[in-house]
Amino acid sequence: MRLFVLFSSVLILWACSKERVKNCEEESLKDLATYPIGAAFDLDEYNPALADKFRFHFNRLTPSNALKFRSLKPSRQGHYQWQKADSLVGIAKSYHARIHGHTLVWHRQNPSWLPDYKGDYKTLLQSHIDSVLSRYRNDIHSWDVVNEALNDDGSLRSSIWLRKLGADYIYLAFKAAADADPGSELFYNDYNLAFAPKKLDAALALCSGLRKRGIDVAGIGMQMHVGLGFPDIQELTTAVEKIWKAGFKVHFSELDVSVNIYGNKKVISNEDLDEQREKFYQVVSVYNQVPRQYQFGITTWGVGDADSWLPAFFDRIDAGLLFDEAYRPKPAYCGFKNALQ
Ligand code: XIL
Repeated sequence: MRLFVLFSSVLILWACSKERVKNCEEESLKDLATYPIGAAFDLDEYNPALADKFRFHFNRLTPSNALKFRSLKPSRQGHYQWQKADSLVGIAKSYHARIHGHTLVWHRQNPSWLPDYKGDYKTLLQSHIDSVLSRYRNDIHSWDVVNEALNDDGSLRSSIWLRKLGADYIYLAFKAAADADPGSELFYNDYNLAFAPKKLDAALALCSGLRKRGIDVAGIGMQMHVGLGFPDIQELTTAVEKIWKAGFKVHFSELDVSVNIYGNKKVISNEDLDEQREKFYQVVSVYNQVPRQYQFGITTWGVGDADSWLPAFFDRIDAGLLFDEAYRPKPAYCGFKNALQ
């Protein structure tokens, strides 16, 4: 009898969870959420299907490449190339979406002329930040000022900025941003913060240190490029709590859930997609626990699998987002949506 009860409850549970997926009607995520729901894309990926999906579900845009140093200033002598970034700003505004600026200082996607620059790197860093923030002062009110400055063990990552300016480049960048646009919300952004405690502690120490030096750091971006097996939800909860308890807003800034993190799968199964749905559900549920004043929002790194960076960047099949190659909602969408309700 007991076995029968157990068996039927398992069956009922299973049936319910399947049912939820089947009846998962598409409703606007931004309308369901009590915090901003963002997505990253760039002009190169922009197409009518993406545009429709973005407009319906999202109220924040992070340009995935257009605001990086290499995109804006490809040639040293030439002027800044604002066209793509300007277009994206225009698109976001036409959808009444806010824009999150990504990113001012990073070790990657710098102009090819940067290593051979003969001038003063400190002035260059400051004037770059000043140029970008001044141009977008009326349109972009939050920035990832420094991206990925730390190794997983908490030490500073080697980068051209560290080599040229020493550890203080981080302060210099935040100071330049704060001076150029005092009204802007400034973020430190990095990956693996959910499960590399030394890296997280170093990020917190760095941001607290900046605050002590008078910089009003708004928050920390946890990129959240995660996979089916990780992070452990308890670990994620602890990491998130550490951030807001230290007084920083939390941004899940680049969320995607890889279904092929090791690159060994040749096909993606329905089981993978169901597991992914559960992962999105858990991740959003953890985010819901953040007190409202520390919720900056959740941003997915792309809109649909057609525009995801994962397959091209890691050279593997993958499907990390809420919408599929044709921008139809996936089980992942249901997981995200169910967590919002
Ligand atoms: C990615 C872009 O999406 C790709 O188009 C580009 O080729 C490489 O960079 N962490 C970040 C983002 O902070 O800027 C990266 O974006 C993804 C990883």
